[in-house]
Amino acid sequence: MPHFPPYRVKSFNLHGLQGISDKTVDLHLSLYEGYVKATNALQGRIAEFLKDGSVDQEEMPAYSELTRRLGFEYNGMVLHEHYFENLSSQASLKPEGSSAFRRRAEASFDSFDRWQADFSSVGKMRGVGWAICFQDPESGRLTNHWVTLHEHGNVAGFAPVLVMDVWEHAYLLDYAPSQRAQYIDAFFSNINWRIVDRRVEDTERLRKRAA
Ligand SMILES: [Fe+2]
Repeated sequence: MPHFPPYRVKSFNLHGLQGISDKTVDLHLSLYEGYVKATNALQGRIAEFLKDGSVDQEEMPAYSELTRRLGFEYNGMVLHEHYFENLSSQASLKPEGSSAFRRRAEASFDSFDRWQADFSSVGKMRGVGWAICFQDPESGRLTNHWVTLHEHGNVAGFAPVLVMDVWEHAYLLDYAPSQRAQYIDAFFSNINWRIVDRRVEDTERLRKRAA
């Protein structure tokens, strides 16, 4: 049986953000740590079922429940890593004119401002989840999506290039529940556009290789 080492908690240096307190960041990082642990634990428990080479009929309900939870825990881990990675206390408010992301946003939405209006609106949708700008690796087009919880709404094979957490834990220490729009403004003032550009460039490199 192949052996993969357990996932490790990644470290992010995110103190000093604008409008998102260090207290929120620390709470959020500890929640992320929980997803890494839960993903590893789930993998271990599922592997136990296969020790004798098959899943028996009586094991199927427990096996099914754990397997369904994989999408929740895995996406909880990976989306938080994307979210933390696309934040920085050294951020600039908008991507520069030469930015790969900006070019794609303009081609997909006519203008950067229109892309931003759409992304922010997705983030204001009621419910618990994520606003994610994905890139279609085949056409290069950007689209903004709502993801419920962590796993409902991700588009298979699309690359997440900008990820915003809008679970309440992302902002409730700093803002009232009705002030999600202020958190979204704060998120925008902390985006690491260099990372977002790199994600677009990586997706485009794969696209060229596949062509
Ligand atoms: Fe979160």
